[in-house]
Amino acid sequence: MNHAVVLTAHGGPECLTYRPYPLATPGPGEVLLRQTAIGLNYIDVYARTGLYPLLVPPAVPGMEAAGVVEGLGPEVTGLAVGDRVAYVAGPGGACCERRVIAARHLVRLPETVSDEQAAAVMLKGLTAEFLLFRARPVKAGDTVLVHAAAGGVGLLLCQWANALGCTVIGTAGGSDKCALARRHGAHHVIDYREQDVAAEVLRLTGGAGVAVVYDGVGRDTFDTSIRSLAVFGHLVSFGQSSGPVAPFTTALLGTKSLTVTRPSLFHYIADTTRRDDMARRLFAAIADGTLQVAVGQRYTLADCAEAHRALEARRTTGATVLIP
Ligand SMILES: NC(=O)c1ccc[n+]([C@@H]2O[C@H](COP(=O)([O-])OP(=O)(O)OC[C@H]3O[C@@H](n4cnc5c(N)ncnc54)[C@H](OP(=O)(O)O)[C@@H]3O)[C@@H](O)[C@H]2O)c1
Repeated sequence: MNHAVVLTAHGGPECLTYRPYPLATPGPGEVLLRQTAIGLNYIDVYARTGLYPLLVPPAVPGMEAAGVVEGLGPEVTGLAVGDRVAYVAGPGGACCERRVIAARHLVRLPETVSDEQAAAVMLKGLTAEFLLFRARPVKAGDTVLVHAAAGGVGLLLCQWANALGCTVIGTAGGSDKCALARRHGAHHVIDYREQDVAAEVLRLTGGAGVAVVYDGVGRDTFDTSIRSLAVFGHLVSFGQSSGPVAPFTTALLGTKSLTVTRPSLFHYIADTTRRDDMARRLFAAIADGTLQVAVGQRYTLADCAEAHRALEARRTTGATVLIP
């Protein structure tokens, strides 16, 4: 019997139930996948509450997982039964034991990346990749600010930006999270509960500010991000764990000739050739030790609602993985 997490209505974690769920037969271009590890992401919270109009209940949430190919529909090429694969694909469908999925979403896993690592990095790691290499490419010598530095995307950004030769300043809530971000490549970490982040960034940079801010927190950090930027700086606003950014006037950007971008991973991976290039770079960074994949929490898939509670309550660090 196949099981899935089902979102019964938009709302809190109590709207997620674990129950038997029908399994389709793979059609043309589709495969049957037995999932071994599923990644939880903040976008799953937005999908659950309805902040992002992604799921119409009843629906199975979740956007990334790893697993083993168990069956092939007609016209599938380049994959075989038994292949280890992973994917990031919206708008949902990942929180289940087995599923049918379009073969084009699947990336074959190298030996060097475990199923759990893949489930932890397909969405977060490809995000770190496009943020650092594509949305606003950084270069050695840049000073960058990473908010929620101890989070899933945050720990990957800190390590990768450090390896690229950037000076990395992180922010996090609490001394344990600050220490974790430091161990993952942040040169300086500011506990925003204790210190004025922008004032500290200006002190650390000799009054200059940073070249780039990676801001996945949104509403609560927007002003700080603007204040922390250098002249000609770039704000990469890529998420809103604290809520949507309030409307602002472009005159604000004129004060320091700033740019703001609000990119989405799904635009970068829509082209599967580009997605495969991104995944190759991500897997290589894991294989050569540039990135340590920090799985901070593991839950059974049946405990998905509890995992949502922890993520929203800021009780998580690094990635959260659900095991079917
Ligand atoms: N644009 C894209 O394509 C894209 C792709 C992936 C992820 N994202 C975004 O990137 C962000 C990070 O995602 P993630 O999955 O790695 O999550 P995460 O950073 O592991 O978890 C969220 C963290 O945000 C911080 N936070 C600050 N204010 C918060 C609040 N009011 N409520 C909850 N958390 C708050 C907390 O860290 P502290 O305790 O340190 O404050 C918390 O642990 C999210 O906004 C997500 O939507 C965007």
